[in-house]
Parts: sequence; structure tokens; C-alpha cells
Amino acid sequence: MTAEDLAHHGDAEATPGLVDLAVNVRRDPMPPWLAGPIAATLHDLAGYPDARPATAAVAARHRRPADEVLLTAGAAQGFVLLAQALRGARRPVVVHPQFTEPEAALRAAGHPVERVLLPAATGFRLDPALVPPDADLVFVGNPTNPTSVLHPAADLAALARPGRVLVVDEAFADTTARTGVPGEPESLADRRDLPGLVVLRSLTKTWGLAGLRIGYLLGPADLVARLAAAQPLWAVSTPALAAATACAGPRAVAAEREIAARLTAERDHLVARLRALPGVTVAGRPSSAFVLVNIAGADRIRLALRERGYAVRRGDTFPGLGADWLRIAVRDTATTDGFVSTLAGVLDEVPAAVGSADAGSGAAAALTGRT
Ligand SMILES: Cc1ncc(COP(=O)(O)O)c(C=O)c1O
Repeated sequence: MTAEDLAHHGDAEATPGLVDLAVNVRRDPMPPWLAGPIAATLHDLAGYPDARPATAAVAARHRRPADEVLLTAGAAQGFVLLAQALRGARRPVVVHPQFTEPEAALRAAGHPVERVLLPAATGFRLDPALVPPDADLVFVGNPTNPTSVLHPAADLAALARPGRVLVVDEAFADTTARTGVPGEPESLADRRDLPGLVVLRSLTKTWGLAGLRIGYLLGPADLVARLAAAQPLWAVSTPALAAATACAGPRAVAAEREIAARLTAERDHLVARLRALPGVTVAGRPSSAFVLVNIAGADRIRLALRERGYAVRRGDTFPGLGADWLRIAVRDTATTDGFVSTLAGVLDEVPAAVGSADAGSGAAAALTGRT
């Protein structure tokens, strides 16, 4: 496989039998308030889907009128609709490293794509000045996959302007939390004052619904109408609509906050364990359900981890990253501990992989406090 394969995703790496730290979908059992409504639709599949109740529920969650909401078959469909409906864009820009599907959708629709690469040296943090002023279609992720960086809302807002469609992919916004902040820190989902802002949301990650295909986009009514016109008829199934309604309610939003708080503690644990390993650098300030790390020879480390039962996500298929990057999903602390011990062993046993002629990196010793 070549580096920068835009069609590569973590699920290709999470093959059966491996502990999956490659895919960022939560695997906990579905709560009854979500499973119940989805299951109930099985008795009602003879009719075509009616998206209006779910659209109203999502609109209420984000305190917007219903015509500012479009339910989609996953956030991924949003990228395709934007790329197809906005074929007139003259200068589309994708801020990388980020999820590869926005660029793939733009290219598939015939757009020339310009990349803005955020450097590792600044922790992959967004610098609005890097985006060309005349870019009329801009894609940014927040928090960003794979860097896990959460950009300040003010930096994103600075990119919005008349004559530009600013797409903020908030597929992982529900995974973010900050002490003292009641909702999702830095989310723009409820902002109606920013010109041309489109926010994409996914129900895939926190609610473990990747197979159902449900997400939505939020934006100005005229733009939403153009995107809706590009959408295939009945694109969102009745079970997916039931999930959207359930996940828009106050119970779901409260549960999301609890899950995000727990995730924060689990991520802090993973980051602390990784930082204790010699030769492992955690990128930026991780804020989501995954962590990006730099390890010399990460491509070979990843293969050695597979042999020992762990799947992690390669970094080299993301524009702006290379062979020394890996993305690791946040899991419960027991899984993290098992993984980090295995990684420490790999770093010691595969010294060539980390570019060192020394006998091991001392990683396992560091873990056990022997150095
Ligand atoms: C950053 C990001 N945005 C969007 C998506 C697409 O999510 P969905 O399953 O809702 O299409 C993904 C899936 O991996 C993602 O990582």
C-alpha cells in the first residue's frame, strides 16, 4: 500500500482476533433507550422513511429551525453532498492532517484540492492565517482525526466569512469534555451567526452505530436546501431515524457528557503510560477518543504489535504524516495497560525498528521502574 491512501480506514487494520485499538468506535452495549426505539422500527419497515420527526428532534437539540438540519447516512455522506452540490467552488482547501474522506469526496467530484498542512512542531494546532483568504470551500476537523487536537472555537470562527463555505467536521465533538464546561467545549454546532458555516455530526462513534449509517449536518437554510437536493431519495433508513431521534434527547446528551468525562480519565491514563516510554512522543494535546504518537520506525512497530495481538492505526496514509506515526484508540485502563506493556516489549525487542543500534530502548525497564 502506498502512503497517503485516502481510502484506507482503521477497520481494515482491526482484523478478527486482534485487540482493536485501530477503530475509534465505542463498543459498549447499547443502552435500552436507544436499542428499544431502533428495534421497534423492525415492525414498521413497510413504509418509506419520514425524516421530519428526527429532523425536528435534532434541530431542537441544537436550538435551530428544522430547515437548518439535514440528516445524512453518516457524516461521510455529508462530505459527498458538499463536494457534489458545491461544484462551483474555485479554491477548495482541506486542512490536514485530518480524516481523508473530505478530500476523497472532493476529488471524486472533480475538484482540485489544495492542502493546508498543520505542522507537528506546533502540535497540529490550527493557524487560521495558513488558510488562503480566497479559499471558498474549507474543511477542518474539530476535534481532528487523527491528531486528537481540539481547536479553539474562536480560531475556527475566524475562518468563516461571506463567500466561503466553512465545513467543520465535528464527528468526534461528543467525545470532548473540559472541567467546568457543561457542554462540548469548542463546538460550533449551535452557532447560527457565522456565515457559510456547515457543521457535520456523526452518531457513529459514541453510540457504536457505524453500521447503521446515521449523522447530520447543520448550516444556513439555503445551503442545507442545496445539499438536500443532492441527496439520494430516502437516504436515511427508518431505524437510523429512530436512532437520531433518541440520540437528540436530553437523556442521550447527558449520557454523552458522562461518557466523555470517563473517556477523558481513560485518555489521561493512556497518555501518561505512553509518555513514560522512551522514544514515544504523544502529539499535541489529545482531546478525543484516540491519541496520535510519533515513534521512529512506527511502521515496523505496528507490524510487531499485530504479531503480539494488537491492531493500531497506521499514520502514513494521512496527508501530512509519515511512517513514524501511529493512532491509538483510548480504551479502558486494563486494555491500555496490556497494550502499553506489549508496546514496551516491542520497543525493546525490535531495536532496529526504532532506529537504534543499542540493545533495546529500555522501554520495558522504564515501565517497571528499573531505570
Ligand atoms: C473525523 C471523521 N469524520 C467523519 C467520519 C464519518 O463518520 P460516519 O460514520 O458518521 O460517516 C469519520 C469516520 O471515521 C471520522 O473519523
